[in-house]
Amino acid sequence: GGAGTHAVRGHIVTVKGDPFVEGDDDVLVDIADGLVIIENGLITAVGPYGELSDRLTADLHVDHYPDRIITAGFVDSHVHYVQTGIIGAFGAQLIDWLNEYTFVAEQRFSDPAYAAAVAKVFFDELLRNGTTTALAFAAVYPGSVDAFFQESLRRGTRMAAGKVLMDRNAPEALLDTPQSAYDDSKALIERWHGNGRNLYAVTPRFAPTSTQEELDVAATLRRETPGALMHTHVSENLGEIAWVRSLFPTSKGYLDVYDTSGLLGPGAVLAHGVHLTLAERIRVAETHSAVAHCPTSNLFLGSGLFHVHQAKNLHHNMTVGLGTDIGAGTSFSILSTMNEAYKVAQLTQYPLDSIKMLYLGTLGGAQALGIEDKVGSLEVGKEGDVIVLDPQATDLLAFRSAQVGSLEEQLFVLATMGDDRTVAATYVGGELAYSRDGHAA
Ligand code: GUN
Ligand code: ZN
Repeated sequence: GGAGTHAVRGHIVTVKGDPFVEGDDDVLVDIADGLVIIENGLITAVGPYGELSDRLTADLHVDHYPDRIITAGFVDSHVHYVQTGIIGAFGAQLIDWLNEYTFVAEQRFSDPAYAAAVAKVFFDELLRNGTTTALAFAAVYPGSVDAFFQESLRRGTRMAAGKVLMDRNAPEALLDTPQSAYDDSKALIERWHGNGRNLYAVTPRFAPTSTQEELDVAATLRRETPGALMHTHVSENLGEIAWVRSLFPTSKGYLDVYDTSGLLGPGAVLAHGVHLTLAERIRVAETHSAVAHCPTSNLFLGSGLFHVHQAKNLHHNMTVGLGTDIGAGTSFSILSTMNEAYKVAQLTQYPLDSIKMLYLGTLGGAQALGIEDKVGSLEVGKEGDVIVLDPQATDLLAFRSAQVGSLEEQLFVLATMGDDRTVAATYVGGELAYSRDGHAA
């Protein structure tokens, strides 16, 4: 025991590989009475409680959750913290939604005090929902990035974010220039990349709002910053795709704009990809780029149905994580996002099972961000981001959970019926960061 050592006991369930490739049985870790030990932020033991008894010294306090599921913190691989205030904006598809709601809301983030207040709300919601890592869009203003990372530093979370790059096709107050995009991003990278557990993401909003000159700046920033991510949107909406074709007439298609700009590669996360062609999906896979599947957003904006089975096919398996895409997305909950992913998969004639959903919401997201050596599963050497799920969270869930016949069914019911109430506790680096029942650190 001793300072910086923490232990969590309960039913350990974690996914340690890609079930679309390896099969569910080979990647699932299921320990009915398990223990996770975290020392100085890192997991140093995971196993059956009975086999780790030599590690249990008198001064090691164990948080025991007898009827609960202990798993890795969720990874939200695409979210806009600056859109927390516009969730549920009525009646528009992507481009109108951006103009009517988003580009209005994001202008408020020129005020650092407002940005700090929203960042606090946003992090409270993440942790309440069991999300310990997120890849987030800030706004165009550097101060909006500072507010985000300051909050993350305070909470000790592993987060990635960046200043939005946009130099055309948006209100004047939201535009940068290629030069200011470079200078501001560079200063933010200096300040935040590798500060605490934070990572910088070079963030061109999407092809329509950046000139080629600015996309080139983004590629330069990425090349100059080892470990930095690239975060953008692709092929979300059919009207958007047609617009990109008219803006970049010499490109082979939407993805090709990013490809020829040198923006694809490991650590490149493309939100949506609903309408990617076969050739584009092959290119995403072979460049080791990733897609963030955002089902609540795709349904809310009427964007289309992401074919997860196609994305995860064995011949050109793309790395895929789940994204809430707040505020086009409608829930902070990765459990609720799994639920919607299942329904979208149903409409594409594919039965997405609970092990694969848990993978997408944890390790898949970590792989998308290129940090699967650090987070995404409960394994020795990884960081101690641990959540506690409660199958008895509500009267109805308790009644339903009493009928389940297998772990797979229990997990599926948690995804179908779960939300923030289902998360009993969230640990960040081994420290209790949120407790539903009011014992928060
Ligand atoms: N494409 C470009 N910007 C955005 C955004 O803010 N949200 C979504 N869903 N798609 C986008
Ligand atoms: Zn988005």
